[in-house]
Amino acid sequence: MKRIGVLTSGGDAPGMNAAIRAVTRTALFKGMEVIGIRRGYNGLINGDVFEMNKRTVSSIIQRGGTLLFTARCEEFKEEAGVLKAVETCKKLGIEGLVVIGGDGSYRGAGDLSAHGIPCIGIPGTIDNDITSTDYTIGYDTAMNTVMELVDKLRDTSHSHDRCSVVEVMGRRAGYIAVNTAVACGATNVLCPERDYNLDDIVNKIQETRKLGKQNFIIIVAEGVGHSEEIANYITEKTGVAARATILGHVQRGGSPTVRDRVLASQMGNYAVNLLEQGVGNRVVGVRGDKLVDFDIQEALKMQKEFDENLYKLSDIISI
Ligand code: ADP
Ligand code: F6P
Repeated sequence: MKRIGVLTSGGDAPGMNAAIRAVTRTALFKGMEVIGIRRGYNGLINGDVFEMNKRTVSSIIQRGGTLLFTARCEEFKEEAGVLKAVETCKKLGIEGLVVIGGDGSYRGAGDLSAHGIPCIGIPGTIDNDITSTDYTIGYDTAMNTVMELVDKLRDTSHSHDRCSVVEVMGRRAGYIAVNTAVACGATNVLCPERDYNLDDIVNKIQETRKLGKQNFIIIVAEGVGHSEEIANYITEKTGVAARATILGHVQRGGSPTVRDRVLASQMGNYAVNLLEQGVGNRVVGVRGDKLVDFDIQEALKMQKEFDENLYKLSDIISI
């Protein structure tokens, strides 16, 4: 391949820039040209693109967000949108594409591959809800951001003998919630993968309070929701003043951690190596410490196991 494109799609994630940098520099190193596509699949439909060089990606490895901007593109979900994107690729001589995003973006990459534009997907989302990889780019940074913020909440919660109900992101998945619950010593964690009973939380607060526990952290995954209502219920039933905090989009920003930068760099490099071999319709992942790749449609059908042991551990060590 002589010319490839790169785009970011769906919600942004810290480390996407590191992936763009690795894709660009690996391709240039191999003598390929690289076209940056702005705002996900919108840029392909509208021809909003620019040629990238080694300096285009200077000083971005440490920056959150994405140099290429990102978007959700409804038009691309229709056949007509895909055909427009294929037309742009043909016009610009883009022979292959690296798509950095979540599983929605993977579906789009599958559609383009089926229309003769080989695509490689790289998992970029803070949610870690992509089944074909152990870790997604941005997940580690987001969890560290949550940890820092919950530590701050604990300071004030402790001073006032309160309970902090903290809502974290994750779309329909509880990976951020369960891991940060363990890392922050949360009293309880509510996640979409497991049913919950608010009275169990109330009982735990009452019992541990008798044993001298004075402040409480409850982590709620956004897929469960209702953090305000949960806080009100706890206040009413236990007498411990509870405050709800929805952390929101702050979890998507910030400088990526070492882990996210290294993972993004490795995956970006791996994706270009696949395109160089003429391979398309694949997604990159990591299993243990090994980089792997899968057929897009097979990857989308995989199941990711919920870490029951970690979920139980968070309960056992917060008494
Ligand atoms: P993510 O990639 O983070 O999962 P979305 O699910 O919002 O985020 O998907 C991002 C974009 O990928 C969508 O706006 C759309 O352009 C494209 N996309 C999503 N689902 C499909 C689909 N079924 N077919 C084709 N393109 C899709
Ligand atoms: O997929 C990343 C994510 O931040 C989810 O955790 C969250 O549910 C969603 O995106 C928020 O999307 P938006 O940026 O459209 O509010």
